[in-house]
Amino acid sequence: MINFDFKTYTNNLLTDEVLEDYKKKLSNLDNFLNTHPNMAFNNLDNLFNEDLVNDIKSTAEYIKTNCDVFLIIGIGGSYLGSKAVIEALSPYFYNESKTPKIYFVGTNLSSEYYNDLLELIKDKDIILNVISKSGTTLEINIAYNLITSFMKQKYTDDELSKRIIITTDQEKGFLREEVVSRGYKSFVIPSDIGGRYSVFTPVGLLPIAVAGFDIKSLYKGALKSNENLDDKIKYAIIRKLMSEQGKTNESFVVYEPKLYWFTEWLKQLYGESLGKEGKGMMPISCVNTKDLHSLGQFVQEGNNILFETVINVLKSKGDIFIPEYNKTLNEINNIASTSTSIAHKKANVINNIITVEQIDEESIGYLLQFFMISCVISAYLDEVNPFDQNGVEEYKKVIRELL
Ligand code: PA5
Repeated sequence: MINFDFKTYTNNLLTDEVLEDYKKKLSNLDNFLNTHPNMAFNNLDNLFNEDLVNDIKSTAEYIKTNCDVFLIIGIGGSYLGSKAVIEALSPYFYNESKTPKIYFVGTNLSSEYYNDLLELIKDKDIILNVISKSGTTLEINIAYNLITSFMKQKYTDDELSKRIIITTDQEKGFLREEVVSRGYKSFVIPSDIGGRYSVFTPVGLLPIAVAGFDIKSLYKGALKSNENLDDKIKYAIIRKLMSEQGKTNESFVVYEPKLYWFTEWLKQLYGESLGKEGKGMMPISCVNTKDLHSLGQFVQEGNNILFETVINVLKSKGDIFIPEYNKTLNEINNIASTSTSIAHKKANVINNIITVEQIDEESIGYLLQFFMISCVISAYLDEVNPFDQNGVEEYKKVIRELL
């Protein structure tokens, strides 16, 4: 289903000696992965337990049939996973015709944005899912207050309680208090699972189910990924070697534009998990072939500071034949990817190639799990804690003071 090529375009970095050496460094890895409390996101059977899956599915059905607009308020790890999955699995331009319309909000503080949003939804029936583990995030609290005030003008208290769903910590925070005092429907974000590792909790699964995708198949893909630790280790070792060679950036590259949000999720996962203690590489992304006509020049001939991790898709839905080249468009797209890897390798920009047969729930579930676990292995090699984000707290402290 998924192929990992860490050889063809990597100047044979992973020699037997290198692998042998790292085997020793990673001798305690299994223990770490299986016992670290924040690895709860890896307990897939627990996350996808039948009662919870049924609750998510029936809530999703209720949402689908009771609103024109499903609003999701969340930021960072509280929305990027579901946004990535929904965009990857949906047809292009899907929001034009789909009901309910799904809008992710709460990711900015622009008054123009909220004015436009409230104007857009003023005559629509709304269901709101607010997602915040801490319940203290400024953007989320502002969005929640704005949108619920608007909803309160439209709906009675009784109706409101059928239209607000809260996903938050089981016990703590302002949003849990709202659940207790107002009787809103709620889902729990397990306290030992960090935001960017929460896509397989109700944080990700409820929006994904509302968008009509099969969450059990995501689970199947993630389970399959768990059968293969080797490639996750190899990828983490290459990243470590790249960092030791002075690379400061990893570019996540896709040739299917609907994977753009997947690269956004990757940027958050790798940036927030590994960028600390003066370590880590800045994750960036390219959506090709678009970015070959902008960043491509820099990658080929600019400051040699990066390496690339490319996600290719072998089969595309509704493939189109292009007679001038006697090839399908998808074949041409894949040739563009191979050609670029060859060209970049010539410039000593190495490429890790990950190829999925097609984009579907299983392959996306596999990739999500692959990158989450491999990211933790990278942190293990860098000796940093992948589960905290003290750096994010700094700006929040300053905002609080200035406010
Ligand atoms: O990955 C993380 O932990 C962060 O990106 C959080 O998800 C983000 O800051 C939002 O936090 P919260 O869910 O508490 O509102």
